[in-house]
Amino acid sequence: MSVLRCVVTQVILAAMSDHSTTEFVIEPAGPLSGTVVIGGAKNSVLKLMAATTMATGTHTIYNVPDIFDVGVMCRLLESMGAQTSRRPGVVEIVIGDIDPVAPFELVEQMRASTAVLGPLLGRFGRVEVGIPGGDDFGHRPIDMHLTGLETLGATFETSPRGVIGRADKLTGGVVQLGFPSVGATENIMMAAVMAHGTTYIENAAREPEIADLASMLNKMGAGITGSGTSTIRIEGVDELEAVSHRVIPDRIQAATFLAAVGVSQGEILLEGARYDHMEMVCQKVGEMGLRTSPDRDGIWAMSNSRLRAVDLSTLPYPGVATDYKPFLVALLAVADGTSIVTENLFAGRFRYVDELVHLGAQIRTDGNHAVVRGVEQLSGAHVVSHDIRAGAALIVAALGAQGQTIVRDTGHVARGYPDLAGDLRSLGANVIERPVEPV
Ligand code: EPU
Repeated sequence: MSVLRCVVTQVILAAMSDHSTTEFVIEPAGPLSGTVVIGGAKNSVLKLMAATTMATGTHTIYNVPDIFDVGVMCRLLESMGAQTSRRPGVVEIVIGDIDPVAPFELVEQMRASTAVLGPLLGRFGRVEVGIPGGDDFGHRPIDMHLTGLETLGATFETSPRGVIGRADKLTGGVVQLGFPSVGATENIMMAAVMAHGTTYIENAAREPEIADLASMLNKMGAGITGSGTSTIRIEGVDELEAVSHRVIPDRIQAATFLAAVGVSQGEILLEGARYDHMEMVCQKVGEMGLRTSPDRDGIWAMSNSRLRAVDLSTLPYPGVATDYKPFLVALLAVADGTSIVTENLFAGRFRYVDELVHLGAQIRTDGNHAVVRGVEQLSGAHVVSHDIRAGAALIVAALGAQGQTIVRDTGHVARGYPDLAGDLRSLGANVIERPVEPV
């Protein structure tokens, strides 16, 4: 990433922290072509940064995306006593004395902040994390994280501003997850790294980001085997050391561009993307008629006709990820035929559907199902982005719409994409992002 783009992103992020936001303006531009570089995975780098708290010294993380959430994690680590510095694509974290308290104000901004729970408890035997909602974890449940850590000997008390965990010394045990939660698997794995004895996590999440975290922890000196499978074994060690690590590519960002080429047609290369991390979603879009294949430099993708409707259900990895769903629904909205889409992970993750309907999509939702009746073409309109993926999906959907679309409140998009407008423009799309003053 260029220094210029890094500076532009910082300006946009500074504007966001000033409570203003941005909007995307999208005009039709025809088929896409060219290469887009896929950056490091948001959902990996944030956990890798949390893991650095387990070893004193200087950690260097490469292939770091220039996104808002990395800035939040830097501030969180700094609030605990770490020093952080960033240059394009790199974050350096110096861990010295750490106060294992993650303030509410920062955790509130980003759910991934809860990733410090396991490492801090594992290393210091105490942790305080300001969980929004305090006693009521209803909207952001971490019950599986806490139960798993209790199996290793931790005790927790909740307060209106968060959760306080203690453990004289964690001891290995068998943690059986009721559901393969990504966050719970990561927190328990990190806590177990410095526990006495051996821990097994059964029904562990298998996402590539978990294997990436295990790979960095092993470089630090941990004894983890089986990451990426349903049973992870962690042999506790007494000490870890600071390391350098390169983040895996962001498969959700890559899927965004797959959907973009599906909507606009054309032929693109997702440079750096890993086909082996995206087999199921490539298979799914393949059923729709969008061709993909692994390439020496990433993933090649091509679409030259209207896609076909398919049914799909979100599932934990290696199934079709819930994060892909907004993009897939955007594709199905203009596919030939009717599709049934089922969400199995997050209740109510269909909020963006109303906005797609404003663009002319014919979609009905009922509980965790959506029935998508494909239309020939969407029509430009003013719509609102409610979260990172919803915003990105609306922008992608608008690429194929007739007339101009304005997607408002796109500040969220910067949480997960360094420069979505610039990347789409580099493929030939007509998209700009501009700051908007608060009303
Ligand atoms: N759940 C519980 N209790 C828990 C933990 C999870 O009930 O203790 C539930 C959740 O409410 C949800 C389901 O289990 O219904 C799955 O949650 P999971 O813990 O797997 O998700 P997460 O760790 O909170 C990560 C990603 C999400 C992604 C999910 C699923 C990060 C920072 N976030 O969340 O990514 O959707 O896994 O793959 O890693 C995004 O990038 O936009 C995003 C939301």
